[in-house]
Amino acid sequence: MKDTGYEIAVYPGDGTGPEVIREGRRVLDALAEGAPAPWHLHEYPGGGQYFLQTGREWEPEAQAASRSADAILVGAVGWPGATLPNGDLAGRALVLGLREGLDLYANVRPCKLYPGVRHRISGEYREVWSPRNVDLVVVRENTEDLYTPARGRLRRGEETEVAIDTRIITRKGSERVVRFAFELARARARGAPEDGVRRVTCVDKSNVMEGCRFFRETFDRVASEYPEIERDYAYVDAFAQWLVRNPEHYNVAVSTNMMGDILTDLAAVLQGGMGFASGANVGVDHAMFEPVHGSAPKYAGKNQVNPFATFFAVEQMLRWLGARHADPRLTRQADRLERSLAGTLASGSARTFDQGGTVTTREAGERVAEAIRGDPR
Ligand code: IPM
Ligand code: MN
Repeated sequence: MKDTGYEIAVYPGDGTGPEVIREGRRVLDALAEGAPAPWHLHEYPGGGQYFLQTGREWEPEAQAASRSADAILVGAVGWPGATLPNGDLAGRALVLGLREGLDLYANVRPCKLYPGVRHRISGEYREVWSPRNVDLVVVRENTEDLYTPARGRLRRGEETEVAIDTRIITRKGSERVVRFAFELARARARGAPEDGVRRVTCVDKSNVMEGCRFFRETFDRVASEYPEIERDYAYVDAFAQWLVRNPEHYNVAVSTNMMGDILTDLAAVLQGGMGFASGANVGVDHAMFEPVHGSAPKYAGKNQVNPFATFFAVEQMLRWLGARHADPRLTRQADRLERSLAGTLASGSARTFDQGGTVTTREAGERVAEAIRGDPR
């Protein structure tokens, strides 16, 4: 427990990032009302748009703050035309750079469908999956695999002949993320919706790839330390199908970086779309939290995007801080926030444009803040 409060470094970033972060701050302010806040927010500019203005992705003090903070909250990065001289996305320092630099090895993506949330499929709003059946977490390895910067081009004169991305799977990287998944399955209140069984599913392509075979071997070794948790296996292609057809079978799924990246966007459809998808990037001493929808340049400044992904990122952040510092104040606030989010969604009073409604980003934040005030600490 930290009596002086937790230092939170906030990077609103590009596009719609600042709009959703503004609402995230509104919700944090509402939680803190009536008592000294147990957290202090420090906001820093950075990202692709900042790069276009200044030639730098962020300032040295912003980078230093990411290392000294107790937690990090990022809006979104990426802007059309904002590219680093080497061709990389300008703003990568704030997402991929933090994952690498702070060794945030587990990317934790909850996929829970709340009552009152609709699915948008083929442009129509339907209730496809039942909230009873969708409550899983994908744990994605976050530091290696095809994301390892071991890549390049072979050129003949000016012409690229070959482009290479190297898939690196290490014992350490696999072991720690698999252990993270089993610890999570142990800590979660419930098992899979289908049968209540605590289960960790290893998602890979070990019928073809050596790295995946190694990942699965490591999975088995770690799993043997958790006899009370069921082990489950799925090849990634089949998993994509089962996830959509039978989400109730899944509790915690663990996968390598690139497969996890793709599967978590697919999983977001089950939870109502990217407007609800949040991610925690967790290391040993640091953690970064983000809505995963990206900067959505098309909607920037329109006050239209769904801020719930940011609210769920804030909830993940409070829960992580509460657990890490054994601070029940933070855990209680995370519970209170989740109740307020669930209540607001169930009432249908914060139906944003992506849900077929007309509620703006700001109004959605105001509705959640009201719900928080109505749920005394
Ligand atoms: C994500 C995003 C990032 C990734 C992008 C922004 C580099 O898609 O967090 O899932 O590929 O990991
Ligand atoms: Mn992604």
